[in-house]
Amino acid sequence: NLGVVNIPVYVHVIYSNNQENISDAQVNSQIQVLNEDFRKTNSDAGQVPTQFAGAAADSEVSFTLAGITRTASTRTSWGTNNAMKSSANGGVDVVDPANALNIWVCNIGGGILGYAQFPGGPAATDGVVISPQYFGNTGTAVAPFNEGRTGTHEVGHYLNLRHIWGDGRCRQDDFVSDTPSSDRANYGCPTYPTSNCRSADMTMNYMDYTNDACMYMFTNGQKARMRSLFTPGGARAAL
Ligand code: ARG
Ligand code: ZN
Ligand code: CA
Repeated sequence: NLGVVNIPVYVHVIYSNNQENISDAQVNSQIQVLNEDFRKTNSDAGQVPTQFAGAAADSEVSFTLAGITRTASTRTSWGTNNAMKSSANGGVDVVDPANALNIWVCNIGGGILGYAQFPGGPAATDGVVISPQYFGNTGTAVAPFNEGRTGTHEVGHYLNLRHIWGDGRCRQDDFVSDTPSSDRANYGCPTYPTSNCRSADMTMNYMDYTNDACMYMFTNGQKARMRSLFTPGGARAAL
């Protein structure tokens, strides 16, 4: 039994204007949301439908802010080619990726909220990227993605979780047995039950695409998949 695994977090704010140069309070709000969501102390945990209540997990992962870097840039959108992760390309180099989570906060552009690197990828690009308007739950965060759940979703990917519908058809697996199958992402705020395959979709799972206010659980199976990374030989064992 590993107990609660704490992950130090470096946040790299790269900005081209004041809106993007988010406050320390906004950074701290994202850390707090991560702690609530991964410890099942989120205030909306009680909204999980009875059908799924037994599957809802305290993932026993916590997060501690290790440092904030701030970098001014003339670049107004960064795309998804990892330029923000390299000082040679005007970004900020990763800090201690074996032992810490790096989050770059910069405008990705193209309507993209965030993206993540799965475990096992190159160390130089390890971590997650989130646009400032979808980061944390205060300051410049914009509805309906202003409750910090983009951070929760992206850290889920960083800890090896797939989208709940497996990015495919009904029988496409997300490698988690207690998340019901689906053949598509859900958006907005679906009413329960919403069924796309044989049973109700778990639209309230952090790894679906619903609004921040409409996602509030990980499952026991997702917890097990995440935490296997921390066991000896796991891709994030040093954490
Ligand atoms: N589209 C992004 C991804 O697949 C993030 C989705 C986050 N959803 C949210 N409600 N905040 O990684
Ligand atoms: Zn995703
Ligand atoms: Ca599943």
